[in-house]
Amino acid sequence: MWHSYFGRGTHLVGIDIDQRCADLARRNIDIRIGNQGDREFLRRVVAEDGPFDIIIEDGSHLPEHQIIAFEELWSAVKPGGVMLIEDLCTNYWSEYGGERGGDGMFMEYIKPLVDDLNALNSRSDDFIATDFTRTCTGMHLYDSMVLFDRGTHKPLTTCLSGRPVFETGTSLITDEHWAKIAEMSSPVRRAQRVLRSPIQSADTALRRARRRVGH
Ligand SMILES: C[S@@+](CC[C@H](N)C(=O)[O-])C[C@H]1O[C@@H](n2cnc3c(N)ncnc32)[C@H](O)[C@@H]1O
Repeated sequence: MWHSYFGRGTHLVGIDIDQRCADLARRNIDIRIGNQGDREFLRRVVAEDGPFDIIIEDGSHLPEHQIIAFEELWSAVKPGGVMLIEDLCTNYWSEYGGERGGDGMFMEYIKPLVDDLNALNSRSDDFIATDFTRTCTGMHLYDSMVLFDRGTHKPLTTCLSGRPVFETGTSLITDEHWAKIAEMSSPVRRAQRVLRSPIQSADTALRRARRRVGH
């Protein structure tokens, strides 16, 4: 299925505890037999096959194993890659050891990560950036699924461009910014931009003219 979706050139690595899955190996599909609850096993897979563009956790569905998989495999996702963990519904199902708000639940494990994702905005010493903060650029929560984006997470910077359309009473725009904006909007600076990139400027002018006449 994944080869149909991503193309046959994609290198797939599957993990399963069921020995019969080994028979599914073929060109560009490697199967590693082992228990996802075994950290040493996961570390071996990462050492031998990682790093990965995409990791999909869809194994035992035990909350404890979801935590282990995330802890062992997150660092094996390439920058720009994603890791997703599905069937989080089991965190609410007793037959999987699930319990809303209970100890050892993956759902409880990821809730503080929402804060960690924002730790670069911290103004207090007891809330500082973690390795997760620096390597996760986004968390996406869906019904029964979470997806993490991996990348280089840098502090947000304020960057003003263009001309603000209105001024708010509590504006973050300082006098220095206003001076910069005035300078950027000056006829001289506009002319300089046109001279720097005449083709782009002509293109922009053409698009504006088309919009005006309704094309
Ligand atoms: C819901 S199926 C998904 C299989 C596969 N991801 C797919 O979509 O076809 C769950 C799979 O996880 C495997 N599994 C169950 N417990 C496991 C464990 N502790 N470690 C590794 N794999 C496990 C099962 O053998 C089964 O093949």
